[in-house]
Amino acid sequence: MLVLGIESTCDETAVALVESGKTILSNIIYSQSEEHEKYGGVVPELASRKHLDVIIPVLKEALEKANKTLDDIDLVAAARGPGLMGALLIGLNVAKSLSLALNKPFVGVNHSEAHLYASMMPNAPEKFPCLGVLLSGGHTALVHIDEKRRYRILGTTVDDAIGEAFDKVASLLGYPYPGGPFVENLALDGDPYKYSFNAGQVKKNPLDFSFSGLKTNVLYTIKGQNNNKARDPLSEQEKHDIAASFQRAAFSDVVNKTLLALDKTPYNALILGGGVTSSRTLKKMFSEALPDLPQFWPTKALATDNAAMIAGLAFHQFKNEADSLHLKASPRIPHLI
Ligand code: KG4
Ligand code: ZN
Repeated sequence: MLVLGIESTCDETAVALVESGKTILSNIIYSQSEEHEKYGGVVPELASRKHLDVIIPVLKEALEKANKTLDDIDLVAAARGPGLMGALLIGLNVAKSLSLALNKPFVGVNHSEAHLYASMMPNAPEKFPCLGVLLSGGHTALVHIDEKRRYRILGTTVDDAIGEAFDKVASLLGYPYPGGPFVENLALDGDPYKYSFNAGQVKKNPLDFSFSGLKTNVLYTIKGQNNNKARDPLSEQEKHDIAASFQRAAFSDVVNKTLLALDKTPYNALILGGGVTSSRTLKKMFSEALPDLPQFWPTKALATDNAAMIAGLAFHQFKNEADSLHLKASPRIPHLI
């Protein structure tokens, strides 16, 4: 079954063709990050307009790369949320229009669930339940995944998403959006224990995350309390040390909370997903902390936002049923349902 997937939840316009949930024939991604770079983050209105400009050329490129025509498609899918409303509407309406015009079924998928599916696309774990670790610009969650691949959130962020915190720290250090890879590179030459940064702990649920205090701590270290800029500009070494100490605090918090979840339930494997999981540093920390537990990591192309994960998950979802063309965009659906 050939599935055409569309992703437009944030600032990537992406179209992919995937055969039977597994074989990627094409995976075209137009990243708008240059458009948003100067604003230090994604501007929703600009994102919607850019999606509109590029989605048809991206669709054509995906078909050409796969050497297929619209008539070859068996199922049309798009991300239905969570994400930016205006951005979601573009991808969703293109998918619905294609479904109507081609007389082929339509499925709307949960973007966060698709991030976790991305790691299971080439090889699924043999045994469930598994523990999902979702770390991205818009999502942070520990997730129970059962035999039927149903999801239950064990912990999520009470304030900022982890990728958002990386982006903010990068911007404070003078680097453009998206800042995660810059922080990772800076940290390579820094002392991770130079600053005693720590992520927040949430009393009500020890598996929840909180990164806003950590972010503020970095801000005060760079600009002085009350933002008064009383201190001298940072030296290059200080930048490296701040990046390394921040990254150590954020990632050790994720690893520790993962270990806590594993204490309670003996999961069979870890399934990691989302843009932040493209960090080699994080991967190293997880393999050192859990050398014996099978870990499923997404390839670089499938870690950040892409449409192959949407088409792949849609194939499995369609086995249950197709969606109505009245399906609404859901900017705030729970990250996993
Ligand atoms: O999954 P994604 O493309 O978008 C969302 O669905 O949110 O993730 C993008 C996020 C950005 O915040 C980016 O800074 C972060 O992933 N990121 C990283 C790294 N590479 C990307 N964060 C930390 N270290 C990295 N190497
Ligand atoms: Zn995403």
